[in-house]
Amino acid sequence: MTSVAAPTVVHTRAPGKINVFLAVGDLQDDGYHDLATAYQAVSLYEDVRARHADGFTVSVTGGPSIDVSGVPTDGSNLAIKAARLLAETTGYTGGVALTVDKAVPVAGGMGGGSADAAATLLACDTLWGTGVGRDELLRLSARLGADVPFAFAGGTAIGTGRGDELSPALAKGQFQWVLAVADVGLSTPRVYDELDAHRLRHQGEIRSVRHPVVDAGVLQALRAGDPGMLADAMHNDLQAPALHLQPGLADVLELGEGNGALAGIVSGSGPTVAFLAPDLDGALELQIALSAARLTVVRATGPVHGARVVTD
Ligand code: C5P
Repeated sequence: MTSVAAPTVVHTRAPGKINVFLAVGDLQDDGYHDLATAYQAVSLYEDVRARHADGFTVSVTGGPSIDVSGVPTDGSNLAIKAARLLAETTGYTGGVALTVDKAVPVAGGMGGGSADAAATLLACDTLWGTGVGRDELLRLSARLGADVPFAFAGGTAIGTGRGDELSPALAKGQFQWVLAVADVGLSTPRVYDELDAHRLRHQGEIRSVRHPVVDAGVLQALRAGDPGMLADAMHNDLQAPALHLQPGLADVLELGEGNGALAGIVSGSGPTVAFLAPDLDGALELQIALSAARLTVVRATGPVHGARVVTD
């Protein structure tokens, strides 16, 4: 008889995301905005390794263009919160030592912290043998942040509510992205506050948005796998407030669009700028042009899978 030994280390991986469309509605009583977004998971991954321990710890490392100095390693780290949530929910009494290796820009609007949380839930469930299952992990992930369910699910999806109510979207082919990573991150709540302040200043000119919806052109472009169509339909309501907080992003957008990008968009709450390229050659040319302008640039493709266990 053979028995399967319990794992001593579990390695999981979850992707970053680009919001190819993001419409923000009114501020709700719970402090969140109602929104309608189209997410695409892209090939920048957060790698989490989990080992048995008595307490809950995390150490964080980053790839070449990733500055991890601002990432907390105390209880406020989203990976620690995820591990604790799973332990509390399942009654697991031990702990975990986590290492997070980041490839998604920090505080960049690409859901890196959310990917850490999603990958950690899966890693701890596997390490601890809590057997919670994907559906329950997906449900738990919504309690950790609006973008965490999507980091878990991956692929292409429409998010409503806070962004955590997902429905899959049909998508064909691969899209080529070039990402300009800013030196200084932006706080998501600050960008939403700036949007609210702008709407308040211009009350009367701007109508309030009760139920935002994803533009039909976006769904059509994703279904067709057509980058030209998607470029025409991309939109982000958080772009204007992000530009207001970091005016230099306007030059970055202009530079990319002047060097072959079909379109550029601030990703989520920014400040990462995502450029959609017509194809791989176009993406490589754009990467060279932006790097020559001394920007920190990474390339990615999408859509890709969600959180999964990696067999080393
Ligand atoms: O859920 P998460 O922790 O990612 O959200 C961070 C912050 O972003 C929230 O505290 C809120 O200020 C803002 N937010 C929002 N509406 C959403 C999602 C996020 O106002 N739908």
